[in-house]
Amino acid sequence: MKKIFILFFGCLFFIAACAQDIKVDSKFTNTARKLDTKNTLQTIAFGSCNNQGKSQEMWKHVVKNKPDLWIWLGDIIYADTKNMQVMADKYSSLKNNMDYRRLLACSPVIGIWDDHDFGWNDAGKEYPMKNESKRLLLDFLDVPKDTLVRAREGIYQSYVFGEKGKKIKIILLDTRFFRDNVERTTGRNKRYIVNNEGDVLGDAQWVWLEKELESSDAQINIIASGYQIISKEHRFAKWGNFPKARARLFKLLQKVKPAMPILITGDRHIAELSRTRLVGLENPLFEITSSGLTHTWSEKRKEANQYRVGDLIIEKNFGLFKIDWSGEQPKVTVEVRGLNNVLFLKKGLF
Ligand SMILES: [Fe+2]
Repeated sequence: MKKIFILFFGCLFFIAACAQDIKVDSKFTNTARKLDTKNTLQTIAFGSCNNQGKSQEMWKHVVKNKPDLWIWLGDIIYADTKNMQVMADKYSSLKNNMDYRRLLACSPVIGIWDDHDFGWNDAGKEYPMKNESKRLLLDFLDVPKDTLVRAREGIYQSYVFGEKGKKIKIILLDTRFFRDNVERTTGRNKRYIVNNEGDVLGDAQWVWLEKELESSDAQINIIASGYQIISKEHRFAKWGNFPKARARLFKLLQKVKPAMPILITGDRHIAELSRTRLVGLENPLFEITSSGLTHTWSEKRKEANQYRVGDLIIEKNFGLFKIDWSGEQPKVTVEVRGLNNVLFLKKGLF
């Protein structure tokens, strides 16, 4: 009887929390909905750059879309510290935030870090507390204690959702833990100096990535990185600062030819869709950058990106994939939305 009672009120809570403007009861858990990898994903939401000290109002607009999954693309919090208590407190403040709990009540959550939650601005393999920081991230994401990722270095992981013929593989890259150093120019408009020999993923992660792609029987393969991969003209963090690694990733995609590969990235405090062609791949390679859940550029300015499709979006935003499985091949549409669920961009990818 007690179980039925809990189930009944649990369902009521779920319906209420996913609806707009209904307060989330603080009695309920701050743990995300359990991952069910048998679930066929029809709506996936994602985003990045979430300052825990700023308004978390975006979540109530994210949940209006009833996502089957949320993917963090890094800068989940702005820790910027070597002090692990400070980092833990910031994660705790977000996880107990009543608006963020709306998401937790509605959707399972997976994700990666970028620099500010890894350690500090544009940190790489030199960050001294990376193992402790990893534990805090995985705890925040409710990654079970016995998961393989806990036993190896870095936070890279993969998930496969859906039954045969309706599978989506999500490959979560760690682009900080093993990333080589990169220097910046001094003075105004500092830019990173290209590290021609530098690496992003490290040897073990490259081997793992190749295996993950080769073994994938998914109809859609989503690859997540903390920072941009295709766009390379701007002066900020990007795979383009490590041209050898960027070329290696593209070569790997050309070799393995995963079905419907899509890149998703964060970090930039803007949103945009980039598209490039890789010789040998049937379809164009798309990258959706969604960044700025709580903050974006304070002014409108232009930025060159020869690969951009559509507009540069400077408003606070999150990304959505909508997948239609009714035909022989899945149809994937990407959307970028913002406060009040306003639609900034919509494009059919496949
Ligand atoms: Fe970042």
